[in-house]
Amino acid sequence: MSTVKLTVNGKAVSVDVEDRTLLVHVLRDHLNLTGTHVGCDTSQCGACVVHMDGKAVKSCTMLAGQADGSSVTTIEGIAKGDELHPMQAAFRDNHGLQCGYCTPGMIMSAIDIVQRHHSQGSGGQLDEATVRQELEGNICRCTGYHNIVKAVLDAAGRMKVAQAAE
Ligand code: FES
Ligand code: FES
Repeated sequence: MSTVKLTVNGKAVSVDVEDRTLLVHVLRDHLNLTGTHVGCDTSQCGACVVHMDGKAVKSCTMLAGQADGSSVTTIEGIAKGDELHPMQAAFRDNHGLQCGYCTPGMIMSAIDIVQRHHSQGSGGQLDEATVRQELEGNICRCTGYHNIVKAVLDAAGRMKVAQAAE
C-alpha cells in the first residue's frame, strides 16, 4: 500500500491504495468521480482522459503512484458552477454526442488540443483535418465524429474569445 496525494478539481486529497492501482480507479472508486469512464483495457479508447498538470492523459494508463503530487482535473471540474465550459457548451450545441459514453474523454482531450494550439500562437485556427488527427486516441462508437469535430472547432473560437476577455 502507498499513500497518494493529489489535488483533484482544486481539492487536496490523500488516498491509500495498492501499488498496482490505476489513476482512473482512484478517481472513480475512491473519489466517486464517475464522469471519467473506462471503455477498454488497452489504452485505445480515450474514455478515461483527464488532465494532469494541465495536459491530457489516459488515466487508465497511469498508476496512481505516478500521479502522486500532481494536480488532476476531471470532467466534473471544468464547469464554473452552473456555467458549462465552452467545450461542453459547444458539444451540446453541435450535438456532439449520442450515448455520451466517450464524451467526458472527448471533451478533456479536445480542451487540451485547443489549449495547445492557442499557446502555439496559431490563433485558434484549428482545421478539421488537424482536429481529426489529434482526436485519433479517442474512439466514439455512436456519432461518426462529424459533430464532434464541429463542436471542437466551434469551441476553439469560444475559448479564444473567453481567453481574450480574461
Ligand atoms: S479506458 Fe483508458 S483508453 Fe480506454
Ligand atoms: S457518444 Fe456514444 S460512444 Fe461516443
